[in-house]
Amino acid sequence: MSIAVYPGTFDPVTYGHLDILRRAAGVFSHVVVATTEAPQKQCLFSLEERLSQLHQAVEGMHNVEVRSFQGMLVDFVRSLGASVVIRGMRETTDFEYEFQMALMNKRIAPEVETVFFVTALDYLYLSSSLVTDIALRGGDISAFVPSFVEDAIMRKLGKG
Ligand code: COA
Repeated sequence: MSIAVYPGTFDPVTYGHLDILRRAAGVFSHVVVATTEAPQKQCLFSLEERLSQLHQAVEGMHNVEVRSFQGMLVDFVRSLGASVVIRGMRETTDFEYEFQMALMNKRIAPEVETVFFVTALDYLYLSSSLVTDIALRGGDISAFVPSFVEDAIMRKLGKG
């Protein structure tokens, strides 16, 4: 069985992430979508809230599991008996960061491969913080996130 891990902050999960996840679930027999604390970011949602949103988002995806992890990603990947990390690639600006992270993970865990999915054109420009910013300024975010995420953002921003 080929197990792949799709890690991210998912603050919040967007249709761009879900597009990558669905496509990965079509390629690998089991996909673990995994989130973690992100001390380097000022997250809008807590880890528990992000986990709960992910659980709702993957409903109906039979070979997808939601997990959180602490510590190093590659240790989590190894603990699952997995050997693939999935990442989405949107544009060239993602490349440097993703390349560095993939190489560092490879240095630490040579048996773990990073597999990139090129984002769907519709989501090329999408990012979690951009969605939150649009919501903060009163814009319509319904094309970018599921309705339960939209509601959660509105509540969080005191606009619900
Ligand atoms: N569609 C829409 N947005 C996307 C996207 C897609 N397909 N792919 C990435 N993004 C956006 C996210 O929305 C996010 O936007 P934001 O910066 O505006 O919030 C941004 O790209 C990056 O987010 P994400 O994909 O969630 O990755 P991340 O950089 O937040 O997550 C971890 C990085 C968690 C995977 C990484 O830090 C990690 O592995 N941490 C564990 C500790 C560790 O092992 N460190 C050593 C790593 S070498």
